[in-house]
Amino acid sequence: GSGKFFVGGNWKCNGTKDSISKLVSDLNSAKLEADVDVVVAPPFVYLDQVKNSLTDRIEISAQNSWIGKGGAFTGEISVEQLKDTGCNWVILGHSERRHVIGEDDQFIGKKAAYALSQGLKVIACIGELLQEREAGKTFDVCFQQMKAFADAVPSWDDVVVAYEPVWAIGTGKVATPQQAQEVHIAVRDWLKKNVSAEVASKTRIIYGGSVNGSNCSELAKQEDIDGFLVGGASLKVYFYCWA
Ligand code: G3H
Repeated sequence: GSGKFFVGGNWKCNGTKDSISKLVSDLNSAKLEADVDVVVAPPFVYLDQVKNSLTDRIEISAQNSWIGKGGAFTGEISVEQLKDTGCNWVILGHSERRHVIGEDDQFIGKKAAYALSQGLKVIACIGELLQEREAGKTFDVCFQQMKAFADAVPSWDDVVVAYEPVWAIGTGKVATPQQAQEVHIAVRDWLKKNVSAEVASKTRIIYGGSVNGSNCSELAKQEDIDGFLVGGASLKVYFYCWA
């Protein structure tokens, strides 16, 4: 694998002040592996609460950001505001933003470029739908999404790629370690051919989609799986202590 193992908890649109306060206190007393980057992504409205109560050992991510500087954009949250609350990561291109909200490659690319320009690190998500996999288009879809990021970002230094097959998200149908590894190595190879050998070897490619405490160790053994982006299982402290 490449770099430090990365464990991201995407809390999605879940939680209350009370449940988040409990999770934060569990995380504060959890024994985390020293050699793992741990990042949690609370909903916007709880970022401040989490930043003010969570140990500095764990970094904080937003789940989305606006494409440019703030201003007259009702309902949006700017990168500057995220930085102001102490966030240093943002998840962009998550499948729920792409397929439920309707964000396209170009829009997501712009967001990534702006976030990086302001010093926010990016968890860049890619992944195919079930019908795309069944039609043999998994690599095409992932490469096209990679290209949109590559066309927009000036550097991959602060980017982690998250491969999340859409059919595996929230379904309990985790990709097999072989299915995940096959895409991870293809994405790394894509980076090598289209960006550089150095970026390909340094960039962390993490897997997401129904990861839990029982399936994570087999996945983590795969050569090109450098971490996880976890949804459902990230709402309980157990997962963060997996190693
Ligand atoms: O960002 C996280 C992924 O969407 C995975 O969600 O672990 O609930 O399947 P999940």
